[in-house]
Amino acid sequence: MLYKRSSELFVEALKYIPGGVNSPVRAFKSVGGTPIFIKEAKGAYMFDEDDKRYIDYINSWGPMILGHAYQPVVDAVIEKTKKGTSFGAPTEIETEIAKLAVSMVPNIDKIRFVNSGTEACMSAVRLARGYTKREKIIKFRGCYHGHSDSFLIAAGSGLSTFGMPSSPGVTKGTAQDTLLANYNDMNSVKELFQANKNEIAAIIIEPVAGNMGCVPPVNNFLQELRSICDENNTLLIFDEVMTGFRLAKGGAQELFNVTADIVCFGKVIGGGLPVGAFAARNEIMDYLAPIGPVYQAGTLSGNPLAMAAGLAMLQAINSDVELFNRLEEKTAYLEVGIRKVLTANNKTFTVNRVGSMISIFFYENAVENYEDASKADTPEFKKFFHDLLERGIYIAPSSYETWFITDALSYEDLDETIKVIDEVTK
Ligand SMILES: Cc1ncc(COP(=O)(O)O)c(C=O)c1O
Repeated sequence: MLYKRSSELFVEALKYIPGGVNSPVRAFKSVGGTPIFIKEAKGAYMFDEDDKRYIDYINSWGPMILGHAYQPVVDAVIEKTKKGTSFGAPTEIETEIAKLAVSMVPNIDKIRFVNSGTEACMSAVRLARGYTKREKIIKFRGCYHGHSDSFLIAAGSGLSTFGMPSSPGVTKGTAQDTLLANYNDMNSVKELFQANKNEIAAIIIEPVAGNMGCVPPVNNFLQELRSICDENNTLLIFDEVMTGFRLAKGGAQELFNVTADIVCFGKVIGGGLPVGAFAARNEIMDYLAPIGPVYQAGTLSGNPLAMAAGLAMLQAINSDVELFNRLEEKTAYLEVGIRKVLTANNKTFTVNRVGSMISIFFYENAVENYEDASKADTPEFKKFFHDLLERGIYIAPSSYETWFITDALSYEDLDETIKVIDEVTK
């Protein structure tokens, strides 16, 4: 029986962990069925507890850009572990990774490490509020910036999947300081600035959205946001938790040639260990404790194992001049293949892609914002997901999630994936 051991493990997990998972989207709730439990992974493949192999298009939701169990990362973590796992005091490796990150990313002088993307975005907003002495922020419908209260207002992915516009437990007071605009819609942003003069501390945005499926910015949206922020002394925060070190060495700032005031990181920067970070120019970062008034801290922030993994990952990315070309070529190859077979099979679809982020929407028109994304055919996606899974192709269990392409994928893997997509959509 398929997924036998996974099903047994899930029954056991349900007894002790809410919903059997430690992060909701893993539960397969939006696609039905029960989650597969992973035993191990190497390169482009994951193996479940029933020893079934999958070509992985989630890649731990982004971090594994060079494949699972990437040897330099594994070696770095093993070496560090032997010397102690946490000290609560500064270590040299924190400066090493900070220096490297600052050299790779445009327009940042200093970086502070935290433990997750949520923490990075939450701290970036506090810093922006403290720096500007204003309280409101603008976020976009369908963008997800972690599970901190201010962001659980029309957030994407897990929340969209469950049809919850927001979460109980988020107070009205918090919600009223988060203003909502529509992705790729400058008018909705302008209206908020007009109605909230001198009150908006920051705009926070996924420069390429990945939490309503992959949705790229269009019509110079990012440039226009930069201008309106400049005109209003508002800070522009790029949440590059997905895009950072993935779309280019310098992330979306480099790819689109737009600078943000604060940049948030997660996923790739930790090489698969729990790491987040936020970064900015000196005048903003020096507003943080211990030199500035804005408080932010963490017992395990800058943890040596996490820093070792992150440093090995960033070094690998920084020294491989062909990496982003290869990722672009592989993902473009997949895109062309998918378009070809879905067209031949008379499917109604839209494919969005930026670099190594790609999504299929079972929807006929362009997908440029959350409203478009939510019109995609959900039953069709559910069937697609399960058919792929059964045939050993592991994509995100939600139509509101981007796929993440890893450099570990071979062209044979991509051909196999296209072949399977052809078979299941015939
Ligand atoms: C764009 C974006 N920001 C923030 C986060 C939150 O990161 P974490 O799950 O590490 O808290 C995510 C997580 O998927 C994300 O996609």
